[in-house]
Amino acid sequence: MSNQPNPASQHHVEQPSSSTAASPGMTDIRLAYTFRQDFPIGAAVSARTIHSQRDLLLQQYSSLTAENEMKFISVHPEQDKYTFDDADAIANFAREHSLELRGHTFVWHNQTPDWVFQDGQGGKADRNTLLTRLQQHMETVMGRYKDVIRCWDVVNEAISDEDSGTYLRPTPWLEGIGDDYIARAFELAHAVDPNALLFYNDYNESHPGKCERICRLMRELLAEGVPVHGVGLQAHWNIHDPSLDQIRAAMEKYAALGLQLQITEMDVSMFAFDDRRTNLKAPTAEMLRLQEERYEQYFRLFYEYREVLTSVTFWGAADDYTWLDGFPVRGRKNWPLLFDERQQPKPVCYDIVKARQKLE
Ligand code: GLA
Repeated sequence: MSNQPNPASQHHVEQPSSSTAASPGMTDIRLAYTFRQDFPIGAAVSARTIHSQRDLLLQQYSSLTAENEMKFISVHPEQDKYTFDDADAIANFAREHSLELRGHTFVWHNQTPDWVFQDGQGGKADRNTLLTRLQQHMETVMGRYKDVIRCWDVVNEAISDEDSGTYLRPTPWLEGIGDDYIARAFELAHAVDPNALLFYNDYNESHPGKCERICRLMRELLAEGVPVHGVGLQAHWNIHDPSLDQIRAAMEKYAALGLQLQITEMDVSMFAFDDRRTNLKAPTAEMLRLQEERYEQYFRLFYEYREVLTSVTFWGAADDYTWLDGFPVRGRKNWPLLFDERQQPKPVCYDIVKARQKLE
C-alpha cells in the first residue's frame, strides 16, 4: 500500500510563481502542486473539455480520467469495430503534458453494448464467449494505453445497494459468467498488463451496509489470491450526506484490508438526493457555506490518509461542466466542484491550500 512510489512525484504539476507561493491569493492557487507530496489531484475530462478547460486542467490538476471515452460502449461499439479517436485525444493530452491518466472502466452494467452479451443467433453469449471477449477487449484497450495508464478501474459498481437480499448486483456479466466474474476480470487484466494497478470502484462506498459488502468482496478476492490492488471510492457526495464520520469509518475499513484507496469521482452536490428543487439560479449562501465546510473536512481527512490514499479525482474540473446538471434532475444547474462556472477557484480552494501549507 504505502510502499508504492507516490505517483504525484512522477508527473507534471504546475507551480505557483515563487513570489506568491508562501501566501497564495485567489489567482495563485495551485491545487495539485500543493498536494504534490500527498496524492495527485485529478479531474474527469472529455475530448471537448481538454480544450474548453485546458488552462485550468494544466494549472490545477495532475491526473485525468476519461469521463466516458474509454468505456466499453465508446471504444468498442460493435464486435469488430473499435473507435479510439476521443480516447486517443485524451491520452495524447495526458502524454503531452505528463499528466497521470486513470483507466475507466472495463466491467460495468452500464455503457456496455448489447452485442457483448449476445450470441448472434438471438440467444445469450455463454461464459467462455464472454470471458474471451473481455480478454480481447482488455488486450486491445489496455495495450493501447499501457505507456500512459498505470491504474485501471477493472470492475465498476458490482455490489448491490440493498442491505438485505442479494450481495452482488444482478448484471449480464454475473448472469453470463457466474459468481466468479469479478475475480476472472481482475486476473485477465493482470495478465494483460502485470504492471497496472487494478481497482474495484463503487458509489455509496461510505454507506455502512454497502461498505461492509465491498469489504466482503475484497476479502474474498484477496483470500483467493486475485490481483486486486485498490478500492476506488467514487465519492459522489452532497452537502448533507454521507457524514464525515461515515466517510472516515469507510476509509478506515478499506485501508485495513491492506489495499490502496483512491477517491475516483468526487463531487459535492448542492442538493440532497431527494431534493428535486429546480428554482435556483445560483447556490444559496447556506449551500456555499456547507459545501465549504465539507470540502475542508474532506481534505483534512484525505491528508490524514495520505499513506494509503493514492489519488483524489473529481468528476469534472469546474462547475461550467458537470454531469450533475443532468442528474438526478435533467437540466437543473448544480455547483459541485472546487472551481466555479468561470473556472475560478471558489474561496474554499484557498482555505484548503492554506491549511495544507501550514503543515509544511
Ligand atoms: C458512475 C460511473 C462514471 C459516471 C458517473 C456519472 O459513477 O462510474 O463513469 O458514469 O457514474 O457520470
